[in-house]
Amino acid sequence: MAVERIIHTATDDNDPVEVELEITLRPRDFASYIGQERLKQNLKLAIDAAKQRSETLDHILLYGPPGLGKTTMASVIANEMGASIRVTSGPAIERAGDLASLLTNLQDGDILFIDEIHRLHRSVEEVLYSAMEDFKIDIMLGKGPSARSLRLDVPKFTLIGATTRTGALAAPLRDRFGMMHRLEFYTPEQIAKIIVRAANILESKIHPEAAKILSTRARLTPRIANRLLKRVRDFADVNGDGIIDTETTYAALNLLEIDELGLDPADRYLLERIIENYGTNPVGLNTLAALTGDEATTIEDFYEPYLMQIGLLERTPRGRKATPKAYKHLDKKIKGGDQPSLL
Ligand code: ADE
Repeated sequence: MAVERIIHTATDDNDPVEVELEITLRPRDFASYIGQERLKQNLKLAIDAAKQRSETLDHILLYGPPGLGKTTMASVIANEMGASIRVTSGPAIERAGDLASLLTNLQDGDILFIDEIHRLHRSVEEVLYSAMEDFKIDIMLGKGPSARSLRLDVPKFTLIGATTRTGALAAPLRDRFGMMHRLEFYTPEQIAKIIVRAANILESKIHPEAAKILSTRARLTPRIANRLLKRVRDFADVNGDGIIDTETTYAALNLLEIDELGLDPADRYLLERIIENYGTNPVGLNTLAALTGDEATTIEDFYEPYLMQIGLLERTPRGRKATPKAYKHLDKKIKGGDQPSLL
């Protein structure tokens, strides 16, 4: 059975309270967006050039692990362009007709943001190709021998696609983006700034030391940092005077079972399953999914990127391996053979 994630689940994205919080804390322009410096520089340049030439901004693909700010960046781009943004997601566009209706209702210069673009249906994706390339779509009227195709112009829009995996994207779709950028994990210093900024917006008092502690436990991810902040704020309000100091922070983190590296029980369960069943040998993704009771895509999208980033998990051609650092962190001994030098 899968272990429940405390701070960070895929379903949080559908929780109205969490979504509302995220929107409140979202920066609206480059000046207030902390981190992703290279991406911001590239985007600023493209935006200035498009504005100078009074052109529509080229299509942009943003990729990287969840929670790093792809949707936020899309709304910042729209704001900086002075354009309207229409937000949707791959699975929400069920038929080619749904996309046709979305596109024909846009205005020149508008931004269409499609989250989880790798989950678009093939039939929808094909309509998108000509829309991206020529701002034209072909729609089928009727069925069978009497079916006719109708070519329609659509406004000169900018598509911003977001995906956790570029590998899952069909090559013809990938090729139609003028810019492709990966969002990187944030540094603990950037996360600390994001936490202080969010605490200010929430009118919560936080000691700098407390922000620093939280910044090392948020998986280098703003979405998690803000959620952690909210949980710690609850703790400070209920059990203290509302001020987030080091004591309340440690107590709240303890209650949440988040350890010094930001791992929650679900992360530790995953690593323990590997160590206990496979030792230092590699294990295939699907076997691992069966062991933990998670979907393989959940492991790939949510657990792995951070575990690999901090060097607890390794991806090899033969499968996933727990590293010596993972053994050390979980206080496990490697059975038989040589002990790696790190231990
Ligand atoms: N809130 C969430 N992500 C942020 C970021 N990158 N900068 C500032 N505030 C944020």
